[in-house]
Amino acid sequence: MNIKKIIVTALFALVFTGVSWGAEGMWIPLFLKKLNETEMKSLGMKISAEDIYSVNKSSLKDAVVLFGGGCTGEVVSPNGLLFTNHHCGYSVIAAHSTIEDNILQNGFWAKNRSEEKINPSLSVTFIKRIEDVTKDALKGVTDKMPINERNKKIKENLASIKKNAKVEAWQNVEIKPFFKDNQYFMFVRETYSDVRLVGCPPVSVGKYGSETDNWVWPRHTGDFSVFRIYADKNNRPAAPSADNVPYRPDHFFPISLNGVKENDFTLVFGFPGTTNEYLPAIALEQTANHRNPVKVGMRDIALKIWGENMNANDTIKLLYSNRYVSAANAWKKWQGESLGLNKTNAVNKKKEYEKAFTATLTGKKEALKELLPKLYTQYKTLLPYGIAYDAMAEFSSLCDAYKLTNVLNNYERMDEKDSLYASVKEFLKKSALKLISAKTVNIDKKVFASLSDFYYKNIPSEFLPQQVKQNYQNNGNNWNAVAQTLYSSPLMTEKGIEDLFSKSQKDVVKALNDDIMVSFFNSINKTFYQEVLPNYKVCNDSINFLMKKYMKAQMEAFPQKAFFPDANLTLRASYGQVKGMQARDGIYYIPQTYLDGVIEKYIPGDKEYDLPAKVLELYKAKDYGRYGENGKLPVCFIATNHTTGGNSGSPAINANGELIGLNFDRLWEGTMSDLNYDPSICRNIMVDIRYVLWLMDKVGGAGYLLDEMKISESKK
Ligand code: ARG
Ligand code: GLU
Repeated sequence: MNIKKIIVTALFALVFTGVSWGAEGMWIPLFLKKLNETEMKSLGMKISAEDIYSVNKSSLKDAVVLFGGGCTGEVVSPNGLLFTNHHCGYSVIAAHSTIEDNILQNGFWAKNRSEEKINPSLSVTFIKRIEDVTKDALKGVTDKMPINERNKKIKENLASIKKNAKVEAWQNVEIKPFFKDNQYFMFVRETYSDVRLVGCPPVSVGKYGSETDNWVWPRHTGDFSVFRIYADKNNRPAAPSADNVPYRPDHFFPISLNGVKENDFTLVFGFPGTTNEYLPAIALEQTANHRNPVKVGMRDIALKIWGENMNANDTIKLLYSNRYVSAANAWKKWQGESLGLNKTNAVNKKKEYEKAFTATLTGKKEALKELLPKLYTQYKTLLPYGIAYDAMAEFSSLCDAYKLTNVLNNYERMDEKDSLYASVKEFLKKSALKLISAKTVNIDKKVFASLSDFYYKNIPSEFLPQQVKQNYQNNGNNWNAVAQTLYSSPLMTEKGIEDLFSKSQKDVVKALNDDIMVSFFNSINKTFYQEVLPNYKVCNDSINFLMKKYMKAQMEAFPQKAFFPDANLTLRASYGQVKGMQARDGIYYIPQTYLDGVIEKYIPGDKEYDLPAKVLELYKAKDYGRYGENGKLPVCFIATNHTTGGNSGSPAINANGELIGLNFDRLWEGTMSDLNYDPSICRNIMVDIRYVLWLMDKVGGAGYLLDEMKISESKK
């Protein structure tokens, strides 16, 4: 070994030792045998990589689906019965709920197939085959090509790969870039669009702990719902129809009631959405300390005002609940992400890694030394635009008056001669009226005043339009006064909107230009589209271009390390072990919770911690049947599997390939795993399958559904 190699190896060891590689990674199923099987077995796995993914025989992949647009589900019976999370089925469950038959509130179990509820816009997708098509995708593409030309060539190549792919009539093909556009994989898929709701627990159980417990351990949520896939008589995909029959899968998960103990092997197999694990340190620093705080700060404001008003009034609660929940989910996650990045010194660790990387760049690779400095420069240039970008995105989604402006801008752009003019106009008018509802307009006014104040203080002043500054000064440097003025716009009343929508197109343009509210927000829009967005895009394009090279260079610099590609909503295997977590000094998180903990949190009539009487009754009687363990009923557990949004509903699988739980969340302390997985704090949260089955069987009285599953209860 020459001296350079020794130094590089030593540096490499320095950067990577002490970190168990076992848990990090969302691996492409195709390469498990080559890259991961040995390690998986060393962590306790008893099955083989072929048992997980194979094209020659049935394997676990045949029981895993992309559920709807962004969750995962798994088949658990020979008759196409499917598990996913309650929060993944939520919109479907809510859509079937009425005041008279509120299945969201009360839960629901179809007593027979005819009671299963059809969902017109729900589908699930199986992956039948994965192929590496990198060579064909990059045919004729060179590094020296200008970016546009390169993209065009790749697009043509992908189209031709798709066209020539050998697939059956009922299959579809998707090709996605991996490793920052350095590799391409083709997925041959089967999409079933007759997916019926079979059952769900009451929302008090399925969403137990609601927003307070979201992203939090210890957790006690029964986050599951049950569906069934239907197919035509030949078991092929078919539109919803009474003639369809239950789908017969190539594989379904057997279920184990043996549960888990610390250090047991776990596999989560599903569709993680987005991660960014290979960024330079500066990007982590900006996310943690600059970009997240702006987004969090703006949501703090809206959530606080909405929350106070929701608590004071049930009608308001209903009106805002969806919006609140979705804004709060990312808001909480971003806070955990910043906290985790700082707590684990992620930026410094990345810098060490960058040093080790740079040290490998000798000889012919010397030229690559410019990559990181160039990336740093681009990120520095990007930051002010990034902050302005985020702030405007938050402002325009959290404030109804801003939304109204954007809706009305569409009206201004319409063409009276267009055949769809009348229907689009009607749609816009309806949307506009919703945004100025008398019930919410005063809440929105408060949100506006506080958001404007935050915006004014936090975005780089060069991106503050003159008109915004002017409004502020004209109103005695008081955003409440600005709000008072702007919300007196005639467009904030039903009559004003009716009037506007009765005008000719020419007069609409004038009315909008003259309006104080619309022109206020359009001054922000104008600055955004003229000064922020174009520059933001230029920086981002350069970053993407450099990241592609940096990604490739990282993989070449550390050939010993197995790299996994960032999540991109394709099927991935994440493996790890059940593990507690040292949360703070003196606080260790035990990896399993029990029904006792559910009961500890119970508050009768509470909006987050109420429980169905049946749960309390069975708890009192300690009636856990075969689902209990040492007189207790397991509820949730945590492990080191590397997961992200999209992995909701994914099967948690034990060493023997049996289903032991459903993934549904992460610990917020470790949500930085999207940017930099750290085994010391990153944990995924799963609902224990024994709680799921107890809720179906004992609480829901749907034991007949368990008869079609394969449940093993051989105690160790
Ligand atoms: N945090 C989980 C996810 O990112 C669950 C969200 C739904 N649950 C909730 N209480 N809001 O999707
Ligand atoms: N709840 C998330 C989802 O809907 C999973 C949690 C996470 O981000 O890991 O996919």
